[in-house]
Amino acid sequence: MKLLISTLMLTAAINMAAVSITSPSGSLRLDVSTDSLGTPIYSLDYKGKTLVSPSRLGLKADEVAFTDGFSVTGIDTVTVDRTWQPVWGEYANVRDHFRELAVHMKAANPDRYLTVRFRLFDDGLGFRYELPRQDNVNYMTLRDESTQFNFTGDPTLYCIPGDYDTDEYLWSETKASALPEALASYKRHNESQRSGGNMVQTPMLLQSPDGVYVNIHEAALVGYPAMLINVDPSTAAMTTDLVPDRLGVKAYLQLPFNTPWRTLIVSDDARDILASQLILNLNEPCKIEDTSWIKPMKFVGVWWEMFTGKQKTWAYSDDYRAKPGITDYDALKPNGRHPANTANVKRYIDFAAKHGIDGVLVEGWNQGWEDWASYRKNRQFLFDKAYPDFDVDTIRDYAASKGVKMIMHHETAANAADYERQLDAAFRFMKDNNYDAVKTGYVGAIIPRSEHHTSQWMVDHVRHVIEKAAEYRIMVDSHEAPRPTGLCRTYPNWLAQESARGGEFESMGGNPPSHTCILPFTRLKGGPMDYTPGLFETRLSYYNEGKSDQAGTTIARQLALYLTMPSPMQMACDLPENYERFPDAFQFIKDVPVDWADSRYLEAAPMRYITVARLDKNSDDWYVGAITDENAREAIIDFSFLPKGKKYTATIYEDAPDAHWKDNPQAYRILTRTVTSKTRIKQHIAPGGGTAIRLTPAK
Ligand code: NOJ
Ligand code: CA
Repeated sequence: MKLLISTLMLTAAINMAAVSITSPSGSLRLDVSTDSLGTPIYSLDYKGKTLVSPSRLGLKADEVAFTDGFSVTGIDTVTVDRTWQPVWGEYANVRDHFRELAVHMKAANPDRYLTVRFRLFDDGLGFRYELPRQDNVNYMTLRDESTQFNFTGDPTLYCIPGDYDTDEYLWSETKASALPEALASYKRHNESQRSGGNMVQTPMLLQSPDGVYVNIHEAALVGYPAMLINVDPSTAAMTTDLVPDRLGVKAYLQLPFNTPWRTLIVSDDARDILASQLILNLNEPCKIEDTSWIKPMKFVGVWWEMFTGKQKTWAYSDDYRAKPGITDYDALKPNGRHPANTANVKRYIDFAAKHGIDGVLVEGWNQGWEDWASYRKNRQFLFDKAYPDFDVDTIRDYAASKGVKMIMHHETAANAADYERQLDAAFRFMKDNNYDAVKTGYVGAIIPRSEHHTSQWMVDHVRHVIEKAAEYRIMVDSHEAPRPTGLCRTYPNWLAQESARGGEFESMGGNPPSHTCILPFTRLKGGPMDYTPGLFETRLSYYNEGKSDQAGTTIARQLALYLTMPSPMQMACDLPENYERFPDAFQFIKDVPVDWADSRYLEAAPMRYITVARLDKNSDDWYVGAITDENAREAIIDFSFLPKGKKYTATIYEDAPDAHWKDNPQAYRILTRTVTSKTRIKQHIAPGGGTAIRLTPAK
């Protein structure tokens, strides 16, 4: 590790004069100063041109304001160059190389102190507010964070509405000036609340008129609400807002306190945005000492059955008056459409064992779904009480005998308060029955009613769940939780999150092919997504229940998603019987790893296409995945990432020449050929299609 430290204690003369640092290669330059009112100001240049023009920094609480009247009392700078090894991820080694500038400030009446710490990387900027322990400020009822990002011109934005409760939206691609119309076109989700203004969520992506891409997000969201961005459509000036509780308070802070990092990932090459590890770098190192029990995995599940239109239910009974733990479930009339039953679960276990899939998820196994289905306001689940037709002991022993891991499901129906009360009992029940992983969910309006899905209380709740899970050596995949901000570095048992519109929407209107061409630029910068790829039966009409939904994909594209949507907890979402219909294509899902030694982004354009190559962490095999939007395209796959002089056998899973997401999604071909680092191919991809390639060293 190289560490260069220089400390400058400056006199009052520093006021007004800018302090500047450049990123290690010099591509980015940061200037920090205070204006005539003593408001902290920063600006950012990229390759010699202004990217962010002078922008204000500040926090405002009921008790005190940290917005103006500041003078700089000192600065610290340091250059850090170090490499760390994630427990799992896209890279075996991650380089963390930045120049840091800490600006210490003081304001009077009453005396108060603020440090803004900046880290300038070659691929972007992170900064946070640090409120040290101080005599005149003990706690803050935070009303506002007025961090500005003053972009100029009329950038193109890739964004979703600034909803407090859900991120399960399709993405807009809009000029900043047309953002109001884009936002007005969104329908409000059931039980969610959206802010006013031209508010969008992060991560968001923009492209400046000069062609520079910027991903705006945050890192290490802990003890603070999620950030929103309010865009001024006429100037492209952006100001942060924070998700409030229902009293309108943004956060209750006790000093000392450091806010999350505000992050800008910057490059004029779209591929760099995908490759950036800036958000992980700004998170704290792993807090779990022994990580040997954290194991990336693939899984199948009793899940898609409930979405296909076959009228299968999570609930055991249709009696909505059933009350978990009170009603005698044995006396209830089963509805006969409940797939979380012992025989069906055994079928999934057999399928997983036969095909070397690590785990089986079962949804609808526990008491409470009758209540949930009715959307009653007092909903509750029991996390240690199974339905009568789900035999916990038999399933535990059967799965163990087949070498398959069971994954538990905890749908809380957003009753987070009750989940906290049950958490210890729930996790003990899991361990007693040999479950090492849980999928959590928060569908509905949050209980306590004072809160939103992404307010400070829920951010704390989810971290509490993750820490508690780590104590029990449990891995977590959370759905409907606050969007990820790289905390999976600190808590690598947090394998995946949903926190975006996932594959489930293929049965609820569909996801256009462009959707998975934007998620890696936006949502995925915070951490892996449980997108649930692997859909082979893409026509919901197949199930003959009057459904007309058509997934925005071909089969070959579903295979490519295992590369373009990397996750250490990756589902094969379709029904076993659908995989049995296409065994040669399913072979790719069986083979594809979920943990990588290296990744190379070969081609990328937001909302249009992505081509990526990855090296398996546990072998010498490389894999390539390429996807396009609703337009056909010829991907250029340049194999120069392969080691020189070595031959590889490429097994190529591609769209057939006449494949099309809309009317011919199941037409694919599997070809093999030999390639070397000198090979370059033009690969046809169908509208809404994709290509997946496995490369094994030739014998
Ligand atoms: C929403 C989740 O995203 C989905 O995966 C799950 O099946 C349902 N909630 C029911 O818990
Ligand atoms: Ca969901």
